[in-house]
Amino acid sequence: MLNSTQFIQDLMSMSSLIRQYVGQIIVIKYGGSAMQDESLKKAVIDDILFLHLLGIKIVVVHGGGPIINHWLYKCNIKPSFENGVRITDQKTMEIVQMVLEGKVNKNLVSMLNLFGNYAIGLSGRDLNLMHAVPLSSNSNDFVGTVGKVNTKILTSLLKDGYIPVIASIASDSLGRVYNINADTVAGALSKALKAQKLIFLTDTSGIMFDIAKPDTLLKNLTVPQVLDLKQNNVIKGGMIPKVDCCIDVLRSKVQSVHIINGCLPHALLLEMLTSDRVGSMLTL
Ligand SMILES: Nc1ncnc2c1ncn2[C@@H]1O[C@H](COP(=O)(O)OP(=O)(O)OP(=O)(O)O)[C@@H](O)[C@H]1O
Ligand SMILES: [Mg+2]
Repeated sequence: MLNSTQFIQDLMSMSSLIRQYVGQIIVIKYGGSAMQDESLKKAVIDDILFLHLLGIKIVVVHGGGPIINHWLYKCNIKPSFENGVRITDQKTMEIVQMVLEGKVNKNLVSMLNLFGNYAIGLSGRDLNLMHAVPLSSNSNDFVGTVGKVNTKILTSLLKDGYIPVIASIASDSLGRVYNINADTVAGALSKALKAQKLIFLTDTSGIMFDIAKPDTLLKNLTVPQVLDLKQNNVIKGGMIPKVDCCIDVLRSKVQSVHIINGCLPHALLLEMLTSDRVGSMLTL
């Protein structure tokens, strides 16, 4: 039976947290690694809509790594990575584009719009929301980073109460299309929009001292501690672009970055609305 006194106490303690967030911009990077189960995906969508209804301005940036790999294998292409970033030749680029802009983006948008007109799907190419800068001088390498960001479209969508959902694809000044690591895009947009928080939804509980031991989760970390963990190889693979962007955004006045497990039902609400939290919180 519902304990009404406890319920009211919980709501009251939540209200002081909610007050800090209302009207603020929060960028949520939804990793492809956390998208593999439909019921968990629905829990993430419900959390995003709940936060939106509280009056928080949400921008979603998504990945799609495992889904891209699935389609690459179907086309007999072996996925390859360097320091957690996908090596992207012309053929890989075509598949990345089709999966991210065509499949993952529209799937998230339609789930968010099931009960109302909330979300709009975009990639960097829409209204030149962001430009890509190639990372390599090799003309067959289509990995880019974020150049100029056009925040105008995002701020007006947020002002009108919409949730922009962004695929990490952009073109350069010559119209060539690039794959940009979604963590990097989430970081660049957090900075450009002066977001209060950046939250990574991934497939681990946060940053762990030993990935094989969940009880080694590091709940509170500062930039010097993160740099130390990176140098000592505790942070590896797909966690590298995440922490690089954490450091960058924290130095640019984003107040905190959270890395949480998108495979834990309602991790977003637990991280934002409970004092115990569930993931790693990084501050300057
Ligand atoms: N110290 C660490 N603590 C936690 N995870 C770590 C650590 N070092 C490396 N990792 C790895 O980082 C991975 C998360 O990054 P990954 O790129 O795979 O997911 P994602 O960014 O959420 O998804 P996508 O790249 O599809 O957007 C974890 O699955 C884990 O294997
Ligand atoms: Mg990744």
